[in-house]
Amino acid sequence: MIVDPDIDYPERLALAQLPTPLQPLDRLSAQFSGPRIWVKRDDLTDCALSGNKIRKLEFTLARALAQGCDTLITCGGVQSNHCRATAILGARLGLKVHLLLRDEELRNEEPGDGQTTGPDGNLFLDYLAGAEISIYPKAEFQTRQRELFEYWSQHYAAQGHKPYLIPTGASDGTGIWGYIRCVGELITDFKQADIQPTHILHATGSGGTQAGLSLGCALHQLDAQVVGVAVCDNAAYFQRKVMGDISDWQSCYEITALPASLSIQVNDDFIGPGYSKAGPEVFATIKKVAALEGLLLDPVYTGKAFHGMLTLIEQGYFAGASDIVFVHTGGLFGLFAQREQLSF
Ligand SMILES: Cc1ncc(COP(=O)(O)O)c(C=O)c1O
Repeated sequence: MIVDPDIDYPERLALAQLPTPLQPLDRLSAQFSGPRIWVKRDDLTDCALSGNKIRKLEFTLARALAQGCDTLITCGGVQSNHCRATAILGARLGLKVHLLLRDEELRNEEPGDGQTTGPDGNLFLDYLAGAEISIYPKAEFQTRQRELFEYWSQHYAAQGHKPYLIPTGASDGTGIWGYIRCVGELITDFKQADIQPTHILHATGSGGTQAGLSLGCALHQLDAQVVGVAVCDNAAYFQRKVMGDISDWQSCYEITALPASLSIQVNDDFIGPGYSKAGPEVFATIKKVAALEGLLLDPVYTGKAFHGMLTLIEQGYFAGASDIVFVHTGGLFGLFAQREQLSF
């Protein structure tokens, strides 16, 4: 397949509420001497389905249905936004969903009895959407992930089902179409707002959003630098992961050459204590942005990346730029699971 400037997309299910709005954050921008900050509200792609995963799953699930699959198996952390989105979309489409979850701390994981706290945040919604859930200790999950997928896949096949396996974050050659397509939407947003942003920032966790946005800018010839703010692994890891997703995309869709302008930029200065753990400065940013702009961020992804962006503004990283864009990738439910970190 040749990807021309009009872009030849594969089949997609229209599941998200698109286009999402692009909004300026003027009270916040006024507090810094730097560019005007805009936010692409991908937290508004749906209600319980909010966030970036639904853009990817529009393409992933179209492929699953085209292959006649009736069961989705995917994986992630116990508070995975991707797993929650898959659970809810599976319910919407009448597909069985089995989530293989990596336990972080083994607490509040079993369905509650109404008296005790029970599962919270995304996990609560996973159960509510009727997903089958298997939670594995972190070490076992990391060493046996492939084996676990294989085991459950055979389990469903033996029952006459046809499983479709979705990798972490739906970040693969199919999922990245979601953010290639989002760049087309951004181009329209920029025309309507009459701006030419120099940078597009977002949280990067499994690399698919970054792969899609970076490739999307190159394919659509949008002259803006995408900067992924890493929330877990380092920049070298994400360079490899993003290029891996892009080469998977090339082989799945028989794309021979990549655009020369493709540029993958990852900033790993704001990971803090590690995946799903944020320092007090991130919680302070979450509180500030909520109170000043009514914009809700989460501690695992968007809060960390947004805090990174504000720090970069203070450091003069965007000197000379008049507009920058933060892609809000959702994740609100993860905030509830860490509510004890916020005091009022
Ligand atoms: C809310 C949120 N933002 C950002 C990301 C990062 O996106 P990606 O996994 O495509 O790097 C994720 C998932 O990992 C997420 O759930």
